[in-house]
Amino acid sequence: MFNFSKLEIPIIQAPMAGGINNPKLASEVTNAGGVGSFGFAYSAPQKISEDLVATRALTKGPINANFFVFSAVDLPAQAIQAQAIDALRNLPIAGDCSVSIPQAPFYPDVEEQLHPVWEHCPEIVTFHFGIPPLRVIEKAHSLGIAVGVTATSAEEAIAIETAGADFIVAQGIEAGGHRGIFNPSAADEKLTAIHLTKKLVKCCSIPIVCAGAIMDGTDIANALNAGAVAAQLGTAFLSCDESGASPAHKNYLLNQHGRGSVFTKGFSGRLARGIENEFIRLMEDRVTLPFPIQNTMTASLRQLAGKTNNGEYQSLWAGQDYSRARNLSAKDLMLTLKNEFLVAMG
Ligand SMILES: Cc1cc2nc3c(=O)[nH]c(=O)nc-3n(C[C@H](O)[C@H](O)[C@H](O)COP(=O)(O)O)c2cc1C
Repeated sequence: MFNFSKLEIPIIQAPMAGGINNPKLASEVTNAGGVGSFGFAYSAPQKISEDLVATRALTKGPINANFFVFSAVDLPAQAIQAQAIDALRNLPIAGDCSVSIPQAPFYPDVEEQLHPVWEHCPEIVTFHFGIPPLRVIEKAHSLGIAVGVTATSAEEAIAIETAGADFIVAQGIEAGGHRGIFNPSAADEKLTAIHLTKKLVKCCSIPIVCAGAIMDGTDIANALNAGAVAAQLGTAFLSCDESGASPAHKNYLLNQHGRGSVFTKGFSGRLARGIENEFIRLMEDRVTLPFPIQNTMTASLRQLAGKTNNGEYQSLWAGQDYSRARNLSAKDLMLTLKNEFLVAMG
């Protein structure tokens, strides 16, 4: 199974669903000695297949394909639906969009999304929000593909190990993007990435990857010293030349440091950490529908904001330490991280 100690540098470029990952970014990271990833949660099988083929043409090294695992939800009562619709229709940007309860919220069939994975065999497949069915883990193993799952607590990590996964991504509270907690209504321990990693190393025997606010080589060294086999970095790669983050997203990451990052349910219905903007402020304390209904419902707003380069209404997912993001090519970022890491490790 996948051997993290064979990596030239113990870095996984985080899977980031929503158009950020692409073959160029993933292959540059892999060719520089790390693991390049794809967040395929919102992708159709055809696109997943194309991305895996295009990436394999650019690198022979390890690739990670990532998916969301979550259950279908019921629509809440009509009165709640009306409040959620009102919250969005009252936004200044809403006049130019049609906001309504989605007739067909986006429910990907993970097992269908996995067909191209079984066909093209990336070295790693990872899951966020939950553990895939046993048959998926067994299928991956029969093809020599390692399986990783995000955990935000010891309880989730033990369940992941018991299910037969090969490694755990310990996601700290500082991490950008969606909080990977299995049950969004459960109490959240909100542990930092280092604290969680130290805890999981004690209660699990499979490898732990540390994720959350890891922005430079010293942070990677700290993650390894806490017992992790590798560090998973999302935000650090968002501002790379090759990243598919929108121009506004990159601009805010590099130039809007005073805003800070906060959690919001407003965009998708599940808590995710992003750079604070007008949407997040106006949606604070407003009614939202559960994931993925809210996500589908805000799609037209987000698309319009993207088209008009309006950062105030885009989901600018970013980790707590986004002010340390650097605008480099992925290759140069990997080289810089490697040098910093080697210095930090002495
Ligand atoms: C823009 C963005 C999108 C993300 N999308 C995913 C995803 O699709 N799947 C996943 O497992 N994690 C996703 N994450 C979370 C990362 O895997 C990781 O936990 C996080 O980036 C680590 O914190 P950092 O951003 O401070 O490096 C995303 C993070 C960001 C910033």
